[in-house]
Amino acid sequence: MKRGCDLLILLYPIENKIEIKRSQPRFTRQLLHSSYTAPIQRLHSSNRVRPSKVTRYAAVTTTERDATMSTPSMTLYHNPLSPFVRKVMVLLHETGQQDRVALQSSVLTPVSPDLTLIEDNPLGKIPALRLADGSVIHDSRVILDYLDHQHVGNPLIPRDGSARWRRLTLASMADGIMDAAVLTRYELALRAPEKHWDEWLDGQRDKIRRALAVLEADAIAELTSHFDVAAISVACALGYLDLRHPDLDWREANPKLADWYFEVSQRASMLATMPKV
Ligand code: BEZ
Repeated sequence: MKRGCDLLILLYPIENKIEIKRSQPRFTRQLLHSSYTAPIQRLHSSNRVRPSKVTRYAAVTTTERDATMSTPSMTLYHNPLSPFVRKVMVLLHETGQQDRVALQSSVLTPVSPDLTLIEDNPLGKIPALRLADGSVIHDSRVILDYLDHQHVGNPLIPRDGSARWRRLTLASMADGIMDAAVLTRYELALRAPEKHWDEWLDGQRDKIRRALAVLEADAIAELTSHFDVAAISVACALGYLDLRHPDLDWREANPKLADWYFEVSQRASMLATMPKV
């Protein structure tokens, strides 16, 4: 091992403490890995390191981290107008991982698929994420879960307990709003007006209104408490309603949600990913 590399930064993900230590050579050999991407997972799989140590530490040299951070190791099929893609982008910003992902533009509709994307995701849906080893994961929930395991800050998806299921359920409600809003957008933008199915459109709008009413009545305090998977998902859903369905005027019936959204919209991650047409 080179002398210049023996200063380790030990990250304690649980206590959120950073400690700089002069390393012990043998311990250093066990901890050092060439990539910043998944040090914890790889240490877990190593028989040479005792689990009690590896569950607490991720270690990189500053030199290695900087070199890796400047070279994207993953590729995201990306469209800035997709609320599902935006969730991924917001999580990347919130966890400081945006430099690890290259963006591959994907312009698609259900009747005009992205043929390159189809080779990686037969459903032809974005987001899809190509990992460093060439494998591809989708959909947005899976990608968020994956990326949330690749940083050493506080998890944005609780790992266990009732908080996990509650936050994922709120996120699922937001995803349902996005589903209904995107399907409505396709129906209105892609089909001739005389073919619009009005009852179906009303059904989608009702889903959106009902879900927003539940968030307004039950979830404001929870959304305010953490900007995590639930809050990111709801914020991206509301952003998409503003983009494609301003006629729904969702703020009128949901003033608390509107106030919350006004606040979180100022976050750097939300400003950096604001969709523009
Ligand atoms: C849109 O333009 O509204 C859109 C684009 C990509 C995915 C979903 C929606």
